[in-house]
Amino acid sequence: MRQLLLTGAVLLAAACGTAPQEESMDQVRNRVFDVARVQAVYMDSLLTEGRCPRTFQGDTLVTSDIGWWCSGFYPGVLWQVFEETEDPRFLRLAVKHTLPLAGLLDRETDHDIGFQLMSSFGKMARDLPSHDPGFSECDEEDLSPKEVLTRGAATLAARFVPEAGVLRSWNWGPWNIPVIIDNMMNLELLMAYGDRDVAEKHALTTARNHFRDDGTTFHLVDYADDGSVLGRQTVQGYTDDSAWARGQAWALYGYAMMALKEKEAGNMDLAETFYGVAAKLEDWLLPRLPEDGVPFWDFSQNDLRDASAGAIIACGFLRMWNLRGRPADDPALAMAERILRTLASPEYLAEPRTNGGFLLKHSVGNIPSNSEVDVPLTYADYYFLEALTLFPVSASPRSIN
Ligand code: GLY
Repeated sequence: MRQLLLTGAVLLAAACGTAPQEESMDQVRNRVFDVARVQAVYMDSLLTEGRCPRTFQGDTLVTSDIGWWCSGFYPGVLWQVFEETEDPRFLRLAVKHTLPLAGLLDRETDHDIGFQLMSSFGKMARDLPSHDPGFSECDEEDLSPKEVLTRGAATLAARFVPEAGVLRSWNWGPWNIPVIIDNMMNLELLMAYGDRDVAEKHALTTARNHFRDDGTTFHLVDYADDGSVLGRQTVQGYTDDSAWARGQAWALYGYAMMALKEKEAGNMDLAETFYGVAAKLEDWLLPRLPEDGVPFWDFSQNDLRDASAGAIIACGFLRMWNLRGRPADDPALAMAERILRTLASPEYLAEPRTNGGFLLKHSVGNIPSNSEVDVPLTYADYYFLEALTLFPVSASPRSIN
């Protein structure tokens, strides 16, 4: 409804010959969450039991089982809509789509349990106690959300290879001990519910071996059993030496998250180290983003944009801005605003009850495998909503020129 009113106000201003005012960021956030409410319910109506949304292609909602690395993001969207609106309908939907993920607890094939559980049970653990304790038992073992997270963290920590100082990413492929930069995002599960020492060692090893002199990151590093580096390459980027946009986004967000966790714990040396990795990458990114802020899928390319990378980078910038003490004239804050305004424009934001229930259009999953090219993706929506809620409510509109 707020969206309709706003559109009406802009049309009225245009009809009267007055220039429409730029929407404040509060208005952008309200408008997007109004669309998110409709889309989240619409998506639920399209899903059959046990299926998770993956993308929308050729007018078809493509789904996955809970094993797909993105299975936590739709529940995470529902939790975010519930947190924003406090509408109990979204609490029910969020619980409904979160509980099946308890089936992942003993999954040992990859590192993705951090993504899957933190976006779903991580939010349930935070939101549920104050709302409805009746939902607190998650499966036939009567696990609470915190117990699910603790067991999931132990499953992730079991992937640690002490001699190499890293968590193995995948159990498949031609590598010895493959580690992709995306793995930084799984560390939050360990920092909150598991072995922090393992998370710190992984982040320190990755800081040493994944980054180029200019601050950008390779996608995959393969380790020998003794921890020496066997090779560095891309899997989802354009070339081994190019900067795959979402890889840079995971690195920025991952090291900003680690810096924040260490700062909260009073470990200022580690906080500085992790902040430094993210800050160097942030300095590289800021002048290289396009005018509207949303990156191309790889920084060496100029064909397709990746809304998911834009949303994650906006979250990373806002976390870095928080770590700096929230200065009003911060260039990363200004760029985050630019990205969010672009993603909230009709070019990216879907019309209600279209797009398979996804919020955003124009993301890129894996171009080298010709998979999920210029489509909606759950994680674009999840991090878009997160960035909107991280954005300061009283600091807009703002110019970054
Ligand atoms: N593997 C996570 C991603 O595609 O970014």
